[in-house]
Amino acid sequence: MTPPGLAQPPPLGASALPPGTYDGRVVVVTGGGTGLGKAIATEFGRLGAAVGIVSRSAEHRAAGVAAVEGSGGRALAAECDIREPQSIATAFDAVESELGPMDVLVNNAAGNFPVPAEDMSPNAWRTVVDIVLNGTYLCCRDLARRLIPAARDGAIVNVGASYAWTGGPGFAHSAAAKAGVKNLTETLAVEWGPYGIRVNGLVPGLMPHEDETAAIAAVPGKYEGQDSRVPAGRVGFPRELAWAATYLCSPYAAYISGHSLVVDGANWQRRHTVQPPFTPIREQLNRPPFGESTGPPKGTSP
Ligand code: HXC
Repeated sequence: MTPPGLAQPPPLGASALPPGTYDGRVVVVTGGGTGLGKAIATEFGRLGAAVGIVSRSAEHRAAGVAAVEGSGGRALAAECDIREPQSIATAFDAVESELGPMDVLVNNAAGNFPVPAEDMSPNAWRTVVDIVLNGTYLCCRDLARRLIPAARDGAIVNVGASYAWTGGPGFAHSAAAKAGVKNLTETLAVEWGPYGIRVNGLVPGLMPHEDETAAIAAVPGKYEGQDSRVPAGRVGFPRELAWAATYLCSPYAAYISGHSLVVDGANWQRRHTVQPPFTPIREQLNRPPFGESTGPPKGTSP
């Protein structure tokens, strides 16, 4: 008989921190209108924060604002492409003029799609690295340049991926960029500690949500028996990541900086005593041999 696995978490709507922990605080979540970013924004709102939802898409921004308001929080949408420093400055200015000075930044926005490395175009590589690594750095930099001259404390959480440690076959661009994000987190935590700014990483495990992009959703077998694919015996819930984000940015984590917290039920440490047969990435993605393909499919996700 299969053992029961890890316990179910408290229900959606429960908070791990005291009510009002973020009263009077301003939190910005990039990509806060969809999926895990929306769940994180919602939990900050539930704890009293005013939340800036920063995203390229008006539809996503509206969804993020509605989610935060639904949890009792106050929210503002600001258009932003995190690849562009001026776009970040404009968005953060808009948040600050409406909600007040920023205290917390969650770098959640990302771009990703599965592709064998040899099929990837130079622009595809550049695009993902630009969003994930450069965008994260530029947002961190912008916030630090607001906090440091004003002698204000702050907290940053950079959303990562466990393939930052292991490599990520099929996701060479994203894995390399997330490795950069983990390393950047460690550097910035040291550089900015003296200014009262904490910088941590937060890594989600398998946490299905309704906003997964078409390219990610199209990975063959992705949704088959997900609970049985993790040692926990169950998938994670977005709120479990969100609780960790609100903790990491709270006063209760005042001595935690430069750490990357993995919330995946130990899935990334799993090993078989004898590994299952190896399947090359082209086969996993149902790709014909290199050279026979007419080129990678275009991304269909927003
Ligand atoms: C191969 C692709 C592709 C695909 C796009 N490209 N999709 N190549 N396979 N499925 C190529 C394009 O052909 C183009 O190269 C280049 O990438 C840039 O594409 P654009 O569509 O012009 O870029 P842009 O409009 O800026 O969109 C960026 C995007 C898009 C990353 C492609 O999907 C996006 O914005 N996604 C945001 C949301 C997202 O991806 N979330 C997932 C995060 S999940 P050429 O050479 O043709 O010009 C995550 C962890 C998941 O990060 C862990 C999974 C296990």
